[in-house]
Amino acid sequence: MKLYCGKDYKEMSRIAANIISAQVVLKPDCVLGLATGSTPVGTYEKLVERYKEGDLDFSQVTSVNLDEYKGLSGDNDQSYRYFMNKNLFDHVNIDKNRTYVPDGLEPDSDKASREYDEIIESVGGVDLQLLGIGHNGHIGFNEPADEFCRGTHCVDLAASTIEANKRFFEKEEDVPRQAYTMGIGTIMRARKILLLASGEDKAEIIARALTGPVTPKVPASILQFHNDVTVVCDEAAFSKMKF
Ligand code: F6R
Repeated sequence: MKLYCGKDYKEMSRIAANIISAQVVLKPDCVLGLATGSTPVGTYEKLVERYKEGDLDFSQVTSVNLDEYKGLSGDNDQSYRYFMNKNLFDHVNIDKNRTYVPDGLEPDSDKASREYDEIIESVGGVDLQLLGIGHNGHIGFNEPADEFCRGTHCVDLAASTIEANKRFFEKEEDVPRQAYTMGIGTIMRARKILLLASGEDKAEIIARALTGPVTPKVPASILQFHNDVTVVCDEAAFSKMKF
């Protein structure tokens, strides 16, 4: 596991964008696994900047996103498809037909999950998977559970996740209660993983996930078993790590 510590959010974002840029330069037709949430916004901004400066070309890149709220269409400004368009896809030369997000409007959870796993397989798997981390250790929407889930599936969101995500909605009742997410097995099959965290509120969970026991009660702890993980945090998020 490689650990990089940026001074603050800005520096964390710059380091993360450097790593993603290197992936795109070294393998222009790579498959990027992407995440939403507040953590990667600065990273996407940097990638857009580099594209505009002429240093990055996304024309052959394919992307697969980690998750999507069940019941939201891509036009809904709270959907993760909308987030990706707004923060990255609308500003770079990626072919939107090769950007995949689980189909939030598919009511049949088994069908939506099966189809998403087929897509990931058909594009050859993920080269670099970007991850944020929830306060309870979730990655994607893989919430603490009794066992690790393999493939894409539909989850009931934990109360703490609904609480954390209500800041993006007008009212708490508007936060969807279910989501489709790649499974832990899918995430672990990515050839490289890039985990980001920023802020003191993530310090405790970062320390538990990276140095505590590997358990489905802290889903991100499974990353200790992956052989190519890079963690980029700011000083605040690394403040409880005991080196
Ligand atoms: C988002 C995702 C989530 C977030 C996590 C952290 O696609 O899969 O696991 O990465 O909830 O969210 P932020 O970055 O908002 O703290």
